[in-house]
Amino acid sequence: MNQLITGGAGFIGANYLYYLAEQNTKDKIVCLDSLTYAGNLHTIDSLIKEDKITFVKGDITDRALVDKVLTEHQIDVIVHFAAESHVDRSIEDASAFLNTNILGTHVLLEAGRQHGISRFHQVSTDEVYGDLPLDRPDLLFTEETPIHTSSPYSASKASADLLVLAYFRTFRFPVTISRCSNNYGPYQFPEKLIPLMIANALADKKLPVYGKGENVRDWLHVRDHCRAIAMIVNDGKVGEVYNIGGHNERSNIQIVQTILQSLGKDESLIEYVTDRKGHDLRYAIDASKIGKELGWKPEIYFDEGIVSTIKWYLDNKPWWEEIVSGEYQAYYAKMYGGRS
Ligand code: NAD
Ligand code: TYD
Repeated sequence: MNQLITGGAGFIGANYLYYLAEQNTKDKIVCLDSLTYAGNLHTIDSLIKEDKITFVKGDITDRALVDKVLTEHQIDVIVHFAAESHVDRSIEDASAFLNTNILGTHVLLEAGRQHGISRFHQVSTDEVYGDLPLDRPDLLFTEETPIHTSSPYSASKASADLLVLAYFRTFRFPVTISRCSNNYGPYQFPEKLIPLMIANALADKKLPVYGKGENVRDWLHVRDHCRAIAMIVNDGKVGEVYNIGGHNERSNIQIVQTILQSLGKDESLIEYVTDRKGHDLRYAIDASKIGKELGWKPEIYFDEGIVSTIKWYLDNKPWWEEIVSGEYQAYYAKMYGGRS
């Protein structure tokens, strides 16, 4: 089988490429990534050098290029990670989100359909379900929870999901969708909560917590997510949506305190800043369907996963220090300046 992985130079896509390489897959793996600010070729350097993957730099909205890649590499399966993925950026300017997340997904669907590929997997998010109240721990997102988006990011992902399902219903195009909760682990860009807090704490910079830090996320180690995606690609039923989550709900302030404690830093570094607009209160996933149908369950406990993740950021300073030294400075000043 020949697989096209989009967005493989980003956080989860790169972890997926490493996961496939570790499985000693006989499949030919091609990665298509346009290397936006979030894509980093250094992340997958070793896979390229060892010929474990073929890398193509390009945009998923470029139909001619996508056609060329599908033909040249005789692609059978597309696993689609590429996206604009940061909620805060989507609040600043949604245009890239609509372009990549909706139009880009459409290009891949249409090209994949015309090339007769055997599986298209859409990597989606629990954020398409909107949010849950903080005072109803009994409520969880199931695959039947209505789509009810809050941010331009989640609206763009939900639009893409609806297109994917339309291609199944209309054309019988063989799709699957996974909707996962918040991921953490190696190679996450330090604009997201966990790597940002680790990087700031190590530099003795303030840790900007939105609002009161009460918002809850359901954290899952990226490796567990990758394992789930591989199971769905191999054995999932076409036309189906699978939720993925860790049953590991933590408030943001709990996460930040855990990081500070692990690094031996003082809580005086915490700074409560103006809340995110439209900030979703709580995400929590019911992952029983993938458990029952495919036998998946999370394997990495958060208390261990967060320690190994912090260690990874300590051991791989050059990887993220390069990121936080460049354009990131301007991003940081724009997003956080004057917010406290
Ligand atoms: P990321 O922002 O770290 O990486 C995105 C990658 O896509 C980058 O390498 C970027 O260069 C590439 N890309 C962006 N636009 C492109 C385009 N037009 N053409 C080609 N490549 C392009 O994102 P991530 O956190 O790895 O998320 C991957 C996927 O998983 C996304 O679809 C996201 O919606 C979904 N997801 C993420 C999380 C999470 O916690 N991070 C949780 C659930 C689902
Ligand atoms: P984030 O990592 O952006 O993921 P998402 O918005 O997709 O859940 O944020 C996780 C939570 O952390 C979210 O409730 C917003 C909050 N947050 C902060 O409090 N401070 C920050 O600097 C960032 C980036 C996020």
